[in-house]
Amino acid sequence: MKILFVCLGNICRSPTAEGVFRAIAAQELPNLELTIDSAGTAGYHVGAPPDRRMRDAASRRGYDLSHLRARVVEPEDFERFDLILAMDRQNLSTLERRAPGHVRQRVRLFLEYAPEAGVSEVPDPYYGGPNGFEYVLDLIEAAARGLCDALRTDSPGARQVNTP
Ligand code: 4NP
Repeated sequence: MKILFVCLGNICRSPTAEGVFRAIAAQELPNLELTIDSAGTAGYHVGAPPDRRMRDAASRRGYDLSHLRARVVEPEDFERFDLILAMDRQNLSTLERRAPGHVRQRVRLFLEYAPEAGVSEVPDPYYGGPNGFEYVLDLIEAAARGLCDALRTDSPGARQVNTP
C-alpha cells in the first residue's frame, strides 16, 4: 500500500502527516508493507526541511521530522500511489485537476479518516500562532489512527497478516 500526503508547501502539514502516520502505522500495523511519502502542490520550499515550529511541536510528541525535505507533486505520483490524501479542499481540487481520470478516486481528504474531529480540513498553520501547530498535530494523529483502522479492515493484505 503506497500513501502520499499532500499540502501546499510540504513543510508543515503533509510532512507531519508522513512522520506521524509512519510512527502510528509501525505500531498498529507492523506487518503491513507501506510506502509513505509527502509532497506539496506548490514549489516555494523545495529541498527545505519542515518548518522549525512544526518540527519542534512534533518533536515534543515524539515525532522526528528533521530528515524530511520538501518536494512537489509529480505526474508520476498519480500512478505510483494507491491513496493520495490532501490536507484541505484547495489542495484536493488542485490534485483532482492534475490527476488523470482513471486515478481520480485515489485522491481524498485526509480528515475523512477522522469524522469525530468535526472538521474536514487541516488548517494551514504557517501564518498562525503556536496553537495552530498543536491543532494540526491533534487532527493528524486522529486521522492517522482512523486510516490505520480503515487499512486494517479494508486491505486484503492487512487482513491476511492479522489472521492467526
Ligand atoms: P503547508 O504550509 O502547506 O502545510 O506546508 C505552508 C507552508 C508555506 C506556505 C504556505 C503554507 N507559504 O505560503 O510559503
